[in-house]
Amino acid sequence: MLNFKKGGIFSRNTEPDKMEQEAENSAQVLAVWGSPGCGKTMVAVKLAKHLADKKKNVVLVLCDMTAPMLPCICPAGDLESDHSLGSILAATHVTDSLIKHNCNTHKKISYLTIIGMRKGENEYTYPAHNATQATELLDHLRDLAPYIIIDCGSYIANDILSAVALMESDAVLRLVNCDLKSISYLSSQLPLLKDHKWDADKQYKVASNVKSNEASEHMEQVLGNVVFQIPHSPELATQMLSGNLFADLALKDSRGFRKEIEKIAKEVFGC
Ligand SMILES: Nc1ncnc2c1ncn2[C@@H]1O[C@H](COP(=O)(O)OP(=O)(O)O)[C@@H](O)[C@H]1O
Ligand SMILES: [Mg+2]
Repeated sequence: MLNFKKGGIFSRNTEPDKMEQEAENSAQVLAVWGSPGCGKTMVAVKLAKHLADKKKNVVLVLCDMTAPMLPCICPAGDLESDHSLGSILAATHVTDSLIKHNCNTHKKISYLTIIGMRKGENEYTYPAHNATQATELLDHLRDLAPYIIIDCGSYIANDILSAVALMESDAVLRLVNCDLKSISYLSSQLPLLKDHKWDADKQYKVASNVKSNEASEHMEQVLGNVVFQIPHSPELATQMLSGNLFADLALKDSRGFRKEIEKIAKEVFGC
């Protein structure tokens, strides 16, 4: 059984955090979604790290079933355990204790808990799940932590957890790259959501991985108005290559990226 760290997320009294958050009417559950390869995982991980660095208990849920992200975001040795999201979704009903048993805590960042698929797994590794388990997982997480960030898969048509996360979250970051393929992707997928109780008000449109040649005029033409612009950071790309996304971004040219993550955290979570 997973040995939860003293003072770790599930033993900590989260009430003050929750009160703070309700007072400011900010989000508890944030879904990060967008076109394939647009930077969803980068943004979700860096937002989670930002909150954890500020001593806020945060659960990061990595939905990707086709390319499990646990082995990509940090060295296996940095995690306290090696549990899978698949074990949670495989149950008939999801309970608090099932979630607690299948979370991974980070050895150096004690405010951070990660749930995701393990290396080598795919959606057929476990019995099929449906919207029941996905909804129950999100409902229970709300009782377990004050902040929950869901790194959604792009393909919502056959990714139940990501689709449910988009419906049930308090806020959605809708990421898009400044290119026609990325925009075409979203206009193809958005009709899938329109038939459901998709709440357009809770969405923030975000331009992601913006390069210096994508001048803001040109970007507005292509994307329309966006609330946030997340710049390209070569240092971040290097962190991704070395599978070490929880390292600090120390270089000067990452400043724009760091500032935008701070801005998003303030706007969405109020912290
Ligand atoms: N802000 C950024 N700065 C630098 N590189 C980025 C940024 N956002 C995305 N990337 C690049 O795009 C790739 C895909 O990012 P990722 O977060 O895995 O996308 P997604 O989760 O949307 O599929 C990364 O490997 C990285 O090289
Ligand atoms: Mg991803």
